[in-house]
Amino acid sequence: MAIRCCSCRSTLLLLLLVSAVPISIIVSLEHATWTSSPNRHHLRYRSLGLVRECAKWDASGGRFLVSNFFGGGLAEVSDVDVGAPAERTLMREPDVAGNVSLGLVVDGGRSRVLVVFSDLFRHRYAAVGAYRLDNFERIFLTRLSGPEDETSFADDVAVDSDGNAYVTDAKRNKIWKVGSGGALSSVIRSPLLERRKEWYHLVGLNGIVYHPNGYLLVVHTDGGDLFRVDTSTEEVTQVDVEGSILGGDGLELLSPTKIVVAAFRPSARLVESSDDWRTATVTGTYSGPLHRVAAAATAKDGKVYVSHLFGGRSHVISEAVFSPLSSAK
Ligand SMILES: *[C@@H]1O[C@H](CO)[C@@H](O)[C@H](O)[C@H]1NC(C)=O
Repeated sequence: MAIRCCSCRSTLLLLLLVSAVPISIIVSLEHATWTSSPNRHHLRYRSLGLVRECAKWDASGGRFLVSNFFGGGLAEVSDVDVGAPAERTLMREPDVAGNVSLGLVVDGGRSRVLVVFSDLFRHRYAAVGAYRLDNFERIFLTRLSGPEDETSFADDVAVDSDGNAYVTDAKRNKIWKVGSGGALSSVIRSPLLERRKEWYHLVGLNGIVYHPNGYLLVVHTDGGDLFRVDTSTEEVTQVDVEGSILGGDGLELLSPTKIVVAAFRPSARLVESSDDWRTATVTGTYSGPLHRVAAAATAKDGKVYVSHLFGGRSHVISEAVFSPLSSAK
């Protein structure tokens, strides 16, 4: 039993390791990282939580929305240049109390945000909720899996142009599809997605983004794979990636030809495609405060910001400036 409980995200192991690192070491490491890049923008915000999984820029509100993990909901952080702002809790979902809040996506066109909830240790519950961006009232809360179903670990979410949501299952390597009104409409499975089943693949399908040409791009963390999933046919193909995206976590679509893949190390990679994501190339890397463990990326005013899992009294959202890879075409 104890061994089975260990099959949660590898980030949990990291959590234990990192929380053993004295805060003073973290601070001195950061000092070294940041004094070497004084012109970049690092937003440090005060928070009482150890873990923050995902931060996404909400342009309409002029703020980052943050999933507050054990908080089971969402917080906001204003992007101010002076001082360290404090995060403000916006919402806690009482109907999933005890679960953690993970991936989120801002659906600006529908003025809402969607967030994933998961049972961190036992993998016996998964849900996705949608909330209004102006007052964080719930629009829907959809249970994806419960104690009677196979175990699962819902992780991240993307929204297509019709408002359908797609939630990755990092444990069973499938994708739940939920209609814009909140009804669970299908479960996308494919032998390709489920190919990597070895015990050491702790984290499977993870970051997901919707591409306006009608497909999803999804990363498999431990396999280092990138998949392309057609949203109308649900056909899955593997993107042939030149360069490694091993450990890929959160994704962000920067343009139709560019995505960012956040990861443990390096903190983020820039991946580009010139053939509608049949093939792609890793063209740049960014290393931020590695001990904080990058987990998500977001775009704001044409820049990329990476958020990190671990903090003590403060968390960091750092601007990612990519170093080109010489091997890239
Ligand atoms: C997650 O939420 C569900 C629904 O309320 C609840 O039954 C379950 O116990 C929660 N999981 C944990 C680990 O608290």
